[in-house]
Amino acid sequence: MISKNIEKALQQQIALEAYSSAYYLSMASWMDVEGFEGTAAFLYKQSDEERMHMLKILHFINDNDGHAVVPQMDAPPVTFENYHNCFQRILEQEQSVTASIHSLVNMSLTEKDHAANNFLQWYVFEQIEEEKQVKTILNKLKIIGNDGPGLYLLDNELGKLAGPVIGVSAADGA
Ligand code: FEO
Repeated sequence: MISKNIEKALQQQIALEAYSSAYYLSMASWMDVEGFEGTAAFLYKQSDEERMHMLKILHFINDNDGHAVVPQMDAPPVTFENYHNCFQRILEQEQSVTASIHSLVNMSLTEKDHAANNFLQWYVFEQIEEEKQVKTILNKLKIIGNDGPGLYLLDNELGKLAGPVIGVSAADGA
């Protein structure tokens, strides 16, 4: 059975993951209208991954005799300064998620909640991967600067990384 303290903290993590999902979805939409379809596809996929992160926590709470609640959250920004700034924002968001996961791990140790501790290890490693990925993109952006053809190539590369994304066209599923 999940402790009330852990349940409350995991509930906050659900809100954080849900916000990440909405944040990246909003960025994806902005990229789409700015002409960066590859990056948009990459971010639509990232948004889906964040929703999956949220759902995993929701099921963990419910499977351990808790009751996960769908959170109320702030609306994400609608427009962004520029391409580079989006990735800086993603890094900051991911760093705050990492800090939150680490504090949850600390709490699971204090509460001697081995199930929660084991569950959270997946997130610890996932955050290493996510931060590494965005840092790699930021490093490429340092090289590219404001070079248009360079950004075009990066956009293509991120589109390939995303692979096929369901629902990127209004015609999908029709
Ligand atoms: Fe689920 Fe990217 O943090």
